[in-house]
Amino acid sequence: MAQAFGKVILLGEHSVVYGHPAIAAALDRGVSARGTALREAGAVDLLVIEPWGVQALPDVSSGGEPTLGRAFAEVLATFPAERPRVRIDANVAIPGGSGLGCSAALGVAVVRAIDEALGQTHSLEDDIARSLRWERVFHGQPSGVDNAIAAAGGLALFVKGSALEPLRARRPLRLVVGDSGEASATKSMVESVARQHEQVPEKTRQTFEAIAAIVRNGKLAIEGGDLRGLGQLMNMNQWLLAGLLLSTPKLEEMCAAARDTGALGAKLTGAGGGGCMVALCADAASAELVRDAVAKHARDAFVVVAGGLPSGAAENDAP
Ligand code: MEV
Repeated sequence: MAQAFGKVILLGEHSVVYGHPAIAAALDRGVSARGTALREAGAVDLLVIEPWGVQALPDVSSGGEPTLGRAFAEVLATFPAERPRVRIDANVAIPGGSGLGCSAALGVAVVRAIDEALGQTHSLEDDIARSLRWERVFHGQPSGVDNAIAAAGGLALFVKGSALEPLRARRPLRLVVGDSGEASATKSMVESVARQHEQVPEKTRQTFEAIAAIVRNGKLAIEGGDLRGLGQLMNMNQWLLAGLLLSTPKLEEMCAAARDTGALGAKLTGAGGGGCMVALCADAASAELVRDAVAKHARDAFVVVAGGLPSGAAENDAP
C-alpha cells in the first residue's frame, strides 16, 4: 500500500513561492493508495477515490479547469508508454481544500501506487519530482513544499529547488489543527499575493523578508527547544499573513480562542482565505484544552505532534 502525508506549514507559506524558506511538518494522516496492474487486452488506466465517489480516466487535454484526470495523465506520462495499464484505489483521510496538503498527498500516493502496480521503486527525490507535475495541474506554479513533505514526512525546512532539510525538534511540537470549514483555494490565494507583489512590490517584498527572518529564527527555536519563542514567531507570521489579506474573521476567531486558552502561538496554515489554523501548545494537557476551545469555532480540531515524538521525549515534555 502506498502512503503519503498531509501537512501543516508552521512558518513561511506564500513567501516560500518566492524562494524564501518555510518550515513544514507532516501530519499523522494523509492518503493511502493501492495500485493494481491490469494485464488484460483493452484495459485502461483508472483512478478511483472511494471516499469521494470519484473515478477518473487520464485526460491529456490542456487548458480549462484542472481535473483529476489531467493530473493523473501528467504523472502517468513519467512512466514508459509500453507498460500494463493500472488501476489506482485511493483512500483520503484529510479534507480537501483546507490547507492540509490533500492534493499533494494524493499526487504522491498515486505516483507511488503506480510504482507498486508496476513492481518498481523510485527514490524519494523522484517521488517529489513526479508528484510536482500533479501539483502543477492544480496550483499553477507551486513552491513544491506540500508534495515534498507529503513524500518525506517528518519536520523540515524547505527552500524551492533544494532538497528538504530535516529538522530535529529539541522538545515535542504539540500542535492543534483547527479546520474552519471554509474552503481555501491555493491557486487563487497564490494569485492574489502575486497581484499584490505586482501592485505594491516594495511593501510585499518587505513582508516576505520579514517572514523569511521569522522562519530562520523559527528553525533556531525548534532546534533549541524554545517553544515560547516559536509561538511568538507564529503570531508574528500570522500578522504578516493577515497583512497580505490571507486571513478571515473565522481564522482570527479560532487563533484567538487558541491563544486565550494558553496556546503559545497560532496562525493560519497553508494558502489561507479559509482552510485551517495551527496552534502551538506547551504540553499534552494544554493541547487538549486548546483543541476543545478551537473545536467550538471549527468544523474539526485535532492534536498532532509535528514530526512525531522525538525519541526519548517524555509524554509530558519537561524542557
Ligand atoms: C500551500 O500549502 C502553500 C503555499 O505557500 C503555496 C506553495 O507553497 O506552493 C501557499
